[in-house]
Amino acid sequence: METYWNHNTAFHDELVADARLRGGRVLDIGCGDGLLLQRLTPFVRESVGIDPDEQAIARARERLINVPNASLVSGDFLQLPVPAEAERYDTITCVAALHHMPLKEALRQMRELLAPGGKLLVVGLAADKTLLDLAISGAFLLPIRLMDRLHGGMQDVGVRIAEPKESLREIRQAAREVLPGGDCAAEVLLQICVSVGEAEE
Ligand SMILES: C[S@@+](CC[C@H](N)C(=O)[O-])C[C@H]1O[C@@H](n2cnc3c(N)ncnc32)[C@H](O)[C@@H]1O
Repeated sequence: METYWNHNTAFHDELVADARLRGGRVLDIGCGDGLLLQRLTPFVRESVGIDPDEQAIARARERLINVPNASLVSGDFLQLPVPAEAERYDTITCVAALHHMPLKEALRQMRELLAPGGKLLVVGLAADKTLLDLAISGAFLLPIRLMDRLHGGMQDVGVRIAEPKESLREIRQAAREVLPGGDCAAEVLLQICVSVGEAEE
């Protein structure tokens, strides 16, 4: 199945390199068509992708049909039961999907599903709410357009999209409240891509 580049997949190498440091079990939340899972799975013991979009999951199944250590769940990640500690995830990835969910509820559930010593890697979108947000987005616009040109960027990969609701500051604040570390060495790698509307996803 096809691979492609866009400013979400631009982070895949970084996510895979980080996940392979721990190996073990990986959960990709909002896995869409499974491209990240396809890239992660050779480097971990087991990978699971979850997405409520039946069509996206069907495409992910097709992509991963010959990959025995990858499995797919069609459903809402917020409804996933929290497994016993031994079955929690060493890495949880969430690319361009956090803003589809109630922020704090989603972060809490991510924390619950993370194994002790595990790591949460979020690549997300943020809303522009202040002049500073707009200035930062504006500064990234040209480099992103250039990278798109260079890589033949594919914006519409046929997955559900949504407008981000929280600003970067609000997301950071929620992450600080909900992911204090504790038993899980929860770290957040928040790479907030420029939010200039639906077409940018
Ligand atoms: C913009 S897409 C990103 C897909 C993929 N991660 C990528 O980078 O191409 C957001 C995905 O989040 C999924 N999603 C939305 N709400 C979700 C939820 N509650 N649990 C799991 N996935 C969810 C959507 O169905 C969609 O496939």
